[in-house]
Amino acid sequence: MNTKLDGKVALITGSGRGIGRSIALKLASEGARVVINDLDDAPAQETVQAIRAAGGQAVACVGNVTAPDFAERFVGTAVNEFQGLDIIINNAGYTWDNVIQKMSDEQWYAMMDCHLTAPFRILRAAQPVIRELSQDRRRRPATARCARWSTSRRWQASSATRGRPTTPPPRPASWA
Ligand SMILES: NC(=O)c1ccc[n+]([C@@H]2O[C@H](COP(=O)([O-])OP(=O)(O)OC[C@H]3O[C@@H](n4cnc5c(N)ncnc54)[C@H](O)[C@@H]3O)[C@@H](O)[C@H]2O)c1
Repeated sequence: MNTKLDGKVALITGSGRGIGRSIALKLASEGARVVINDLDDAPAQETVQAIRAAGGQAVACVGNVTAPDFAERFVGTAVNEFQGLDIIINNAGYTWDNVIQKMSDEQWYAMMDCHLTAPFRILRAAQPVIRELSQDRRRRPATARCARWSTSRRWQASSATRGRPTTPPPRPASWA
């Protein structure tokens, strides 16, 4: 098993089948601990078992991503089971389309709910968790952080071509 994603925690919606399942297996094979979601228990548990059989770590959070309480439950599963959250794959979805003159409001809102509103809610629920975790990680000696930023190769390379000083400005407080 690879270890590129060791210590990372991933959420993958619609990972009981298809592309989501493949993504889950791949992330787990790289060392990530994954939270599997699908509408029904059986496909979700099948992916969980496949990951565990291969030596990975996975748990299921079954449910419809469009349910109003789903995002909190999904993010909460990652935090409670694996004490982290690093990767979010908003994969759950399906096609229910038509030529525009025959597409109903029900179809339109179903597509919006599943492909836009649900991912938005998941990202919104995840933000405070990711922020807190990143602050924890940043609580390292300030000198180490400054040294890394001021020697950032990206900053220095762009400074050289734009004629600005190679010492970067202080990071905005809002980035904290
Ligand atoms: N396969 C393609 O060619 C293709 C092309 C473009 C986009 N996509 C999108 O990629 C994603 C995955 O496609 P796939 O081919 O693997 O589909 P798939 O049907 O094989 O798998 C999707 C999984 O998501 C689950 N799911 C659907 N709605 C859900 C919901 N509301 N809540 C929780 N789980 C839900 C399904 O039960 C299913 O297990 C979908 O969003 C699809 O629209 C697929």
